[in-house]
Amino acid sequence: MSDAAASLSDVVVRRSGRHLLDSVSLRIESGERWVVLGPNGAGKSTLIRLLAARLHPTSGTVDLFEERLGRTDVFELRTLIGLASAELADTIPGDETALDVVVTAGYGIVGRWRESYDDMDLERARTLLVAFGVGDVADRPFATLSTGERKRVLSARALMTDPELLLLDEPASGLDLGGREELVRTLGRLASDPATPVTVLVTHHVEEIPPGYTHALLLRRGGAVAAGPIDEVITSRNLTATFGLPLVVEKHGQRFTARAIGLD
Ligand SMILES: Nc1ncnc2c1ncn2[C@@H]1O[C@H](COP(=O)(O)OP(=O)(O)OP(=O)(O)O)[C@@H](O)[C@H]1O
Ligand SMILES: [Mg+2]
Repeated sequence: MSDAAASLSDVVVRRSGRHLLDSVSLRIESGERWVVLGPNGAGKSTLIRLLAARLHPTSGTVDLFEERLGRTDVFELRTLIGLASAELADTIPGDETALDVVVTAGYGIVGRWRESYDDMDLERARTLLVAFGVGDVADRPFATLSTGERKRVLSARALMTDPELLLLDEPASGLDLGGREELVRTLGRLASDPATPVTVLVTHHVEEIPPGYTHALLLRRGGAVAAGPIDEVITSRNLTATFGLPLVVEKHGQRFTARAIGLD
């Protein structure tokens, strides 16, 4: 068996007497691309915070690259992890340019603090912005960007440090249909590139699962409904149990669709 990028065993996260995650076990191997689906409040972002070494479990164990959370230097661990989330976006100063938002990832910070960066870093940041379809906003302040443009800049930032683990929490929310399809295509291309790190993508919609994703975890009220190879997990029965209404899931080529039964 290959080394696990992340391994969760019986993980519980409890806050104010509530279980945000309840007995979740999961093993993510190198090369895998995971999607995490579940309704609002299911615990998806809580899971991402654990995987990003930004939260410790109340009980159970989290191992990232064979290092146990709680027994290791999280700052060192975080250099291996690329994260894009709404929580992170909220910490970005509005006057920071899109290019700076990406390039500062290399220094593990938000907010530009140096007058000059390495030319290679700047070039890499520009290339990533272009890859995510936002090369033209590189010099604009982050605060002036649309929701979708910000999302794409954050995805570019997450890849800036060439991480070993890429975590994308709802990268497609707020994108228009064309923007979503472009992002799905970009993420699909990344998924098929062996140089791309282990990836965990959170979404509410099966339509946003990029081609080439290999595994899925379904969460409901902090518990795992199903986890494993994507075609075994993304089924009508499992989605119905996860979202609490009768759903039909179909797969066309490498893309999924879902719709509720009895609404037409
Ligand atoms: N400090 C806290 N105390 C109590 N409850 C909390 C705390 N932090 C988060 N929660 C709750 O934990 C649950 C899980 O939150 P989380 O952000 O992980 O959900 P999510 O699946 O990412 O939801 P969404 O799809 O809306 O982003 C939510 O019901 C949230 O209100
Ligand atoms: Mg969330």
